[in-house]
Amino acid sequence: REVTAFAPATVANVSCGFDILGFAIDSLGDKVKVKLTEGSALKVVEIQGDEGKLPFESEKNTCSVAIQAMLDQMDLHVGMEISLYKGLPLGSGMGSSAASAAAALVAANEVLGKPFSKEDLVPFAMEAERIACGAAHADNVAPSILGGFVLIRGYDPLDVIKLPVPDGLHCTLLHPHLELKTSDSRSVLKQQISLKDATMQSGNIAGLIAGLYKSDFPLIGRSLKDVIAEPSRALLIPGFYELREAIKNVGALGSGISGSGPTIFILSSNESIATKAGEVSRKVFDEIGLGVDVY
Ligand code: HSE
Repeated sequence: REVTAFAPATVANVSCGFDILGFAIDSLGDKVKVKLTEGSALKVVEIQGDEGKLPFESEKNTCSVAIQAMLDQMDLHVGMEISLYKGLPLGSGMGSSAASAAAALVAANEVLGKPFSKEDLVPFAMEAERIACGAAHADNVAPSILGGFVLIRGYDPLDVIKLPVPDGLHCTLLHPHLELKTSDSRSVLKQQISLKDATMQSGNIAGLIAGLYKSDFPLIGRSLKDVIAEPSRALLIPGFYELREAIKNVGALGSGISGSGPTIFILSSNESIATKAGEVSRKVFDEIGLGVDVY
């Protein structure tokens, strides 16, 4: 018995929601095939699309680590062969490791006759994030598994809440040809924030969530601000501030770092603005001489 599952790319943080907000992207993502076999070992047998960079060892690969966490919880010993087909670039800030873990879990859960709900799979995928970047954050894995916009209200205990997605909301992704490891872009973050910054950040998170519930696009735009991670991380992304300036005239709601970068996301209230924002941003990268993929 074998099952193949797809899991989408995700934008984590969404500017103000460091480690607590994320949303899924339509169509871009990874696929994982899981086949039940004799024995009790998880084997990664095939990886495509990673330019040979991802590990086959089952204790290092995010697919097998996530599935192992699930099997441990069930106290189940079965063999599985895992094939990973990467559609997402590594170290891009588009939730690449999360999509692999999410697809692996959905496929493995299906192969076993669905012992878990999708919500139950999130903590297993977080174990894969711990291996991939040293921090078991859920703001990529939760939206990759559940779809849509997701809030992680708390980690202990885990409290994951699905949020509404306003009709028309579009995301443009700019992936500059750079690789940034999440562990590195977490290491540049300051560990303390001021009361003033905490107040600003809380206001923006609340504003963003209110904007999603009310389909209030200007409010969503005003709330796309981040005084916690962006000031340190933007320095690692050439063109970040130039792009923000350049899209001011096309009517986009705002821009920010997708997860830990270097991908930049832009939110727009319709497809034509999203397309225009992509074109204008591409020019910014052309001018600084850095290759970019626009999605
Ligand atoms: N919330 C995580 C971070 C997302 O910003 O480090 C990583 O994609």
